[in-house]
Amino acid sequence: MLHFLWDSISLQTFLIFLFVFLLIADYMKNRNPKNFPPTPFRLPFLGHIYLLDFKDPAVTARKLSERYGDIFGMHMGSMKFVMVNGMRLVREVLVNQGDKFMDRPDIPLDKEVFSKIGLISSTGHLWKAQRRFTLTTLRNFGLGKRSLEERIQEECRYLGDAFRDEQGNPFNPQFQVTNAVSNIICSLIFGNRFEYHDEDFQRLLKLMYEMTVLHGAITSQLYNSFPSIMKYLPGAHQTIFKNWRLLKNVMQEQINKHKEDWNASESRDYIDSYLLEISKDHDSDTFREEHLMACTLDLMFAGTETTSSTLRWALLFMATHPEIQARVQAEIDAVIGQARPPALEDRNNLHYTNAVIHEVQRKGNVIPFNVPRMASEDAYVDGYYIPKGTVIMANLTSLLFDKNEWKTPETFNPEHFLKDGKFWKNDNFIPFSMGKRSCLGELLARAELFLFFTSLLQKFTFQAPPDTTLSLQPVVGIAMAPQPYKICAVPR
Ligand code: HEM
Ligand SMILES: *[C@@H]1O[C@H](CO)[C@@H](O)[C@H](O)[C@H]1NC(C)=O
Ligand SMILES: *[C@@H]1O[C@H](CO)[C@@H](O)[C@H](O)[C@H]1NC(C)=O
Repeated sequence: MLHFLWDSISLQTFLIFLFVFLLIADYMKNRNPKNFPPTPFRLPFLGHIYLLDFKDPAVTARKLSERYGDIFGMHMGSMKFVMVNGMRLVREVLVNQGDKFMDRPDIPLDKEVFSKIGLISSTGHLWKAQRRFTLTTLRNFGLGKRSLEERIQEECRYLGDAFRDEQGNPFNPQFQVTNAVSNIICSLIFGNRFEYHDEDFQRLLKLMYEMTVLHGAITSQLYNSFPSIMKYLPGAHQTIFKNWRLLKNVMQEQINKHKEDWNASESRDYIDSYLLEISKDHDSDTFREEHLMACTLDLMFAGTETTSSTLRWALLFMATHPEIQARVQAEIDAVIGQARPPALEDRNNLHYTNAVIHEVQRKGNVIPFNVPRMASEDAYVDGYYIPKGTVIMANLTSLLFDKNEWKTPETFNPEHFLKDGKFWKNDNFIPFSMGKRSCLGELLARAELFLFFTSLLQKFTFQAPPDTTLSLQPVVGIAMAPQPYKICAVPR
């Protein structure tokens, strides 16, 4: 009987039947649950990939948020996303109901790279233990203490020397700035810094930078939607995997070196302290060498490109706003002078400079949509149902550029952070995100930004090279960096 049925349908009928079946299966699998936030029309199989403008994802997103308001959904492959805009809902998700959105999603590309261990992508008990240990250890090595401040000041001197060597000629500051910033983390993690002309280290930094840029590439996005197919195809995602393996090798070498001359009664740096924790952690699997590797790479990764991009935005904004730069320099000259290096204590007296640094972070908007979170249980936000497993993106841009909170959101304007000539912090300033899973390195990053920025402006005036207009268009990647540019650092 079955045999007869099979014989009687043509191949064509069979294919049509198969297609309809897959279409229904796709619909059943991806249909929105009741009360899910508004979602634009989704293509069968492809989801909302058609909405992505790969050159500028922000454009697509703007169209959606204009149409759907403060909360809307999207599908990429088989994953559901919800984008949240505005302080009320962002606070709801990150703080008020923060415990339900504390996890990181299984985005295929990130899963492959970060493998759910370490600091950035682990969850639950493992994340808590790694984060607590890291915060304590960084504090012991001087986060919020004098010793770290001195290390940053020393690095400021090296960076100033490197800039002076350029003799006021146009140069691209990217790799020197990145090296300087990265050295601070390196000295915390491995206890040493790297010379700016160390080629091995420069190569390492390039690999890391490349990874952040490649993240935005079409093939990387396709990998996230169709990992099982893209796994076999060439593209940016393969370069990311290759770079990550290389970074791991370098880190393994450092860990091995530390193991060789490790002394339990004397921790020199983060790796030493972690090795001690591993030696104490007999019963559980929380502290393991594999996790140490992940944590160190996460610190390098999270702490380097973000801070470096912000500083490169700062130089760019100074060169494009000479009158603001002159006011910063006048304030530095009046409060610090030229005889001694800036110290963190000076922050309280450098109101205008501090406002400028905050404005650089606001306008630079280095992490526009926060690092994705995931609902670890079913939740309701603004009356909408968010099922467990939904990816939550908090649109930090919507806070940093909110028309109701900032006088001139689209313009670089330090007055946003001044009241009666004194520094004043706006509540909508949250470039480091908020809640229990906000940036672990905020204190360190703010110390670095202040000391690097003031010590550079104490010694140099930044100018566009002759006959050049500097672009303020960002490169879209994980972090929004300025496009590579050349600038003149004219000694004062
Ligand atoms: C201007 C510089 C920086 C910015 C704008 C920035 C911003 C952020 C943001 C938005 C997040 C996501 C938080 C969330 O999910 O809610 C984050 C996470 C993180 N940041 Fe930063 N960051 C900066 C510098 C640093 C530095 C210097 C370090 C190194 C110590 C660092 C380490 C981390 C780590 C480890 C995480 C993951 C935290 C976790 O998942 O628990 N960041 N950062
Ligand atoms: C994020 O907020 C900005 C500023 O309000 C808005 O222009 C943009 O469209 C928003 N993006 C998304 C994806 O909601
Ligand atoms: C380990 O460090 C302690 C304390 O600084 C020191 O007394 C001891 O000699 C060191 N041991 C070795 C093997 O270096």
